[in-house]
Amino acid sequence: MKEEDSRIISAAKLTEDEQDNILRPLKLEDFIGQDDIKSNLNVFIQAALNRGEALDHILLYGPPGLGKTTLSQIIANELGVEIKKVSGPALSNLGELASILTSLSENSVLFIDEIHRLNATLEEALYPVMEDFKFDMFIGKGPSARSIRMSIPKFTLIGATTKAGNIASPLRDRFGIDFRLNIYNHDDLATIIRRSAKILKIKIDDDAAIEIAKRARGTPRIANRLLKRVRDFASYKKLDKINLDITIYALEQLNIDFLGLDHVDKNILKTIIEKFEGGPVGLDSIAASSGEEARTIEEVYEPYLLQLGFIARTPRGRVCLKKAYDHLGIKQGPENPTLFDWLK
Ligand SMILES: Nc1ncnc2c1ncn2[C@@H]1O[C@H](COP(=O)(O)OP(=O)(O)O)[C@@H](O)[C@H]1O
Ligand SMILES: [Mg+2]
Repeated sequence: MKEEDSRIISAAKLTEDEQDNILRPLKLEDFIGQDDIKSNLNVFIQAALNRGEALDHILLYGPPGLGKTTLSQIIANELGVEIKKVSGPALSNLGELASILTSLSENSVLFIDEIHRLNATLEEALYPVMEDFKFDMFIGKGPSARSIRMSIPKFTLIGATTKAGNIASPLRDRFGIDFRLNIYNHDDLATIIRRSAKILKIKIDDDAAIEIAKRARGTPRIANRLLKRVRDFASYKKLDKINLDITIYALEQLNIDFLGLDHVDKNILKTIIEKFEGGPVGLDSIAASSGEEARTIEEVYEPYLLQLGFIARTPRGRVCLKKAYDHLGIKQGPENPTLFDWLK
């Protein structure tokens, strides 16, 4: 029974993933927004192609859902090379890494997702690989142990991370190029939503696309997900087009407010305000009191709350700012600090 359950769950995930795949842009010109990154990338890609060499290693960082995986696939497509994708925490030993590296073809791309969660031994093994395309393999144990140096085809390593700060500088320094993906503005998100609607063969009014964009937390993945949920409401109501009314109705039903905050954001903010008098409070204390995971708070929720100016990070911890109190309709007491207090 249990096995059956998990199979249903994974199958359900697969269909959602497949839908994600069709929404994924395949060419640089279809990748919306992030103009600085695109124009620089275009130069680097053309230069590598002209020289017939592998592109320099690239580090992509930014919160989840901003297009790191998509961009790495696009880079490989534009270079006209193969891409192998692995996930940092899933790579467990040197043998596994060796077999991946030796199977790469010349000038191709190796994508390591969540590279900040790669274990230290593997990370160190990558240094000579990135620099000289040499892999040191240790054979045997104890006094008879020896190492052999293997040559690896020249390739491009693309590392993606949600936390650039967690990458040790020896690793970071070995990336020739690094790009920080920024939270998207409403116009770019609306363009992404209209593009996705076209691919999914649904009509959508411009004001409806903008309404979804405003509530998508600057994140294309969330924009696409909201579009699909709004589409469900529209088709349930037998509408042949997504209009503003059904969009607002659907988003209300989904408990996503006009800034895109859901119950988790509100729980985090209320925890800081009600249990810690507005802060400053450390991440772990917020996690313990709110029941949310510290890493999820930091990597998924906090970037948008910081962007909105609802919270700030101070040397002594997180503080809630006036805008958060206003949004939640909570009066700020004299004991609640403001950012100004902490800058004094
Ligand atoms: N710039 C963009 N233009 C259009 N769609 C995008 C863009 N960035 C991301 N997406 C969409 O958002 C989804 C999530 O992007 P993804 O690359 O998986 O994010 P990340 O790897 O950073 O978590 C993709 O499936 C894609 O459809
Ligand atoms: Mg990804």
